[in-house]
Amino acid sequence: MTITTHPAAEPTAAAVRRFPEGFLLGAAAAAYQIEGAAHKDGRTDSIWDAFSRVPGAVVNADNGDVACDHYHRYRDDVALMRELGLNAYRFSTSWARVRPDGGPVNPKGVDFYSRLVDELLESGITPWLTLYHWDLPQALEEQGGWANRDTAYRFRDYALSVHDALGDRVDIWTTLNEPWCSSFLSYTGGAHAPGRQDVAAGLAAAHHLLLGHGLAVQALRERDASLDLGITLNLTVAKPVDPAHPGDLDAARRIDGQFNRVFLDPLFRGHYADDLLADVGPLGLDAVVQPGDLEVISSPIDALGVNYYHGEYVSDRPAANPIEGQAPTDRPTRSPFPAAEGVHFHSQGLPRTGMGWEVQPDGLRELLGRVHREYTGPAGVRLFVTENGAAYDDEVSPDGAVHDVERTGFLLSHLSSILDAIDEGTPVHGYFYWSILDNFEWAWGYDKRFGIVRVDYETQERTIKDSGLAYQAVIRDRALPAASAR
Ligand code: FCB
Repeated sequence: MTITTHPAAEPTAAAVRRFPEGFLLGAAAAAYQIEGAAHKDGRTDSIWDAFSRVPGAVVNADNGDVACDHYHRYRDDVALMRELGLNAYRFSTSWARVRPDGGPVNPKGVDFYSRLVDELLESGITPWLTLYHWDLPQALEEQGGWANRDTAYRFRDYALSVHDALGDRVDIWTTLNEPWCSSFLSYTGGAHAPGRQDVAAGLAAAHHLLLGHGLAVQALRERDASLDLGITLNLTVAKPVDPAHPGDLDAARRIDGQFNRVFLDPLFRGHYADDLLADVGPLGLDAVVQPGDLEVISSPIDALGVNYYHGEYVSDRPAANPIEGQAPTDRPTRSPFPAAEGVHFHSQGLPRTGMGWEVQPDGLRELLGRVHREYTGPAGVRLFVTENGAAYDDEVSPDGAVHDVERTGFLLSHLSSILDAIDEGTPVHGYFYWSILDNFEWAWGYDKRFGIVRVDYETQERTIKDSGLAYQAVIRDRALPAASAR
């Protein structure tokens, strides 16, 4: 697919701000969070099926057995996407469905994605495929999971299997979604599947995920040089509470290092930064990096997806107004950061979403600018926002509508921030709202609703929320409504 590059938004009438030509306006979801049919047609357990059975791991002991039943309702869901006017839909394939237990290809599993892709194409919606959105086959976890180097090679093989089936129709391929979550949050902090709490395993997982990414990129590129290949990272803006206080600056450096640069540097520069290695090398990273790995990891890509939800405001001093708070359940977890003891997360006093996350739209402009300047720009890699969205405690009005004013505000303010970035000279090529549907929000189960479409989990009825209608108008006009345009 060709995506036109436009360095700046088109000049427009004062009040209306238009999106550049070719800018993709889409929405995202992920296999385990929406599909259901967890054991149908040959699919076997992923680490999230297993983790959901751990007492106390997920709010209300929810799981993805049924979720939004998208496996059976995908046609209706694609019809909704079409009604909303989405240019593109970002979805993930389930490894445990395509290659159950990490073993041979399961034709029925593959067939589901084939039908989904056909339905999207027939509806004029570009399929944007993510190979790994956190659902490792449990059988591979039992062989060491991402802490085991072999999993990176298995991932490459799985990527090729998906390409065998869909490569003729899907042009845009993302290897991994948010490797920070599938390593540090999952193997170090233990808040996500597989729920380990082991610093060395988290660092090994991060490196092996990157290696798997690089191996898959090389193998897919060899298959078809025209594929649009990339990775999605969740990135943050880490600011010191007091920029004049060395302890706060060091806290910001650590969080930036262990959140952002731990992935950006190897991918774009072919090395881990010295300060990061000084902090975490002896804790387990040094032990797993083998000669040649960084060349594989830094194989050229075409697109970087940035997922942005909030920034961090950090200090070496405890906060009177701490932000760290909301844990989904009582199950003890540890910090996902391998070497950030003594770093404290402060509140900036901003409004918060239903997740307790501070709403900081301008952080997105800042983040995109930095990533473009330091990483994607010099590499000639196109930049997309592949996730951004908010959970709120939606209420259904007596007329059945969902007047989610806050989510609409969140969506429009972040789109506006992207246009600010474009105006400043940061080329951004697309935006995907998270999520198209309310869904299984990992350890929060079904308690947190991010959708622009409401799902009634009793009846599986879908209702487009007011935020969805607002997005529909933005996509139709390819512009922000006058009232929200700055
Ligand atoms: C991201 C995940 C996505 C969803 C949103 C809220 O970290 O990629 O699956 O959970 O957060």
